[in-house]
Amino acid sequence: MEFDPQELSAIDDPYPVFDELRKNHPVFYGAERDLWVVSRYEDVRAVLLDAETFASGMGTVPTGFVAIKPMMISRDPPYHTKLRGAVHPTFTPRRMRALEEFIRKVTRELLAAIDPEAETDLVGALTDPLPVAVITELLGVGIEDRVKFSENAGAVIHAAAGDGPSAEEGIHWIYAYLERVLALREKQPGDDLVSRLLHPEPDETRLTADEVVGFCALLLMAGTETTTNGLGNALVLLHEHPDVRRQLAQRPEGLSVAIEELLRLESPVPGLSRVTTRDVEIRGVKIPKGARVHMLFAAANRDEGAFPNADTLDPDRSPNAHLAFSLGIHFCLGASLARAELRIALEELLARFPDYRIVSDRWVRLRSDAARGFSFLPCVARP
Ligand code: HEM
Repeated sequence: MEFDPQELSAIDDPYPVFDELRKNHPVFYGAERDLWVVSRYEDVRAVLLDAETFASGMGTVPTGFVAIKPMMISRDPPYHTKLRGAVHPTFTPRRMRALEEFIRKVTRELLAAIDPEAETDLVGALTDPLPVAVITELLGVGIEDRVKFSENAGAVIHAAAGDGPSAEEGIHWIYAYLERVLALREKQPGDDLVSRLLHPEPDETRLTADEVVGFCALLLMAGTETTTNGLGNALVLLHEHPDVRRQLAQRPEGLSVAIEELLRLESPVPGLSRVTTRDVEIRGVKIPKGARVHMLFAAANRDEGAFPNADTLDPDRSPNAHLAFSLGIHFCLGASLARAELRIALEELLARFPDYRIVSDRWVRLRSDAARGFSFLPCVARP
């Protein structure tokens, strides 16, 4: 058997192949990509929790972005610990609450602009602009620069995900822009995240300018397309499950639990790789030092051993310890923000358009190596 776990995420239904892998080839060597694929929940979890053996190291996230500035996602302890520790205090509950209000305001504006009777692309109208607005708000990017910023970010993110032409220009534009933001906040600190990072409390770690810029670029890269895809996948799943949709429209307080299930069933980041720092054995299979191990979150999240009726959407599933946000030291830093975006966007959308209909024969799935989602979701909001 030869297959490419990364290309699989671009096809409509990769799950039969994932089932086959999980059942019959739980540690599969893909010669074409020289990659060891683990797909069982227990194994993926074990790899994630052993960061000493399975390192993130430079090169596991193949983008120009990462090569230029230091980013925690491609670093290992102790440097990862320093970077993550330094930014952690800036995600305060107060900032999160303010962002939630912002998310609601932007969602309402975006939904108000939709003509309910006409066909609308939900990616362009909602799932793309919302996460970019949230990250630029977090970074304190001025409203007048947002369009330019999001155009460049979009180009870079698509290129990074293997879904667009190289985006050298965009990368440099964003870095130059962030450097200007830094220079400004250095002199005139405000209430934003960048100012807070540049002016830590006496007992907190101070990052270099390069580290702050790298972190801001990482937020942009890790926090936008992932959320766009999470939201798009959720809208499609709810379109395919009208009973669940109706139930959630009537009882929006169920959304917090339901979004975990939506992320489990269609994980926006279907898999990620680590590099072994020593010879290691998984289920009796010997993996040499320096090998790439690919963790298939999307397969682990449908493992019957961890989730009874794993292929079924159960909006009340609890507990639901899915791995869509990873686990261990690299557990998604923006998970609570992403959850808030999904919850609020779905709540507002279902309140306004509970019967939206997606034109499923014309949607376009992302042709991406690293992401599962849609680039075009035609929809009639009030059919
Ligand atoms: C549904 C949306 C999202 C999904 C599915 C997602 C998924 C992930 C995953 C799987 C990782 C782990 C990487 C690893 O183990 O190597 C990660 C890390 C990360 N995410 Fe997210 N993410 C989402 C939204 C966000 C948002 C909104 C932000 C920003 C506010 C964000 C910021 C980050 C950062 C900074 C890291 C790196 C953490 C580290 O290396 O310690 N993510 N995310």
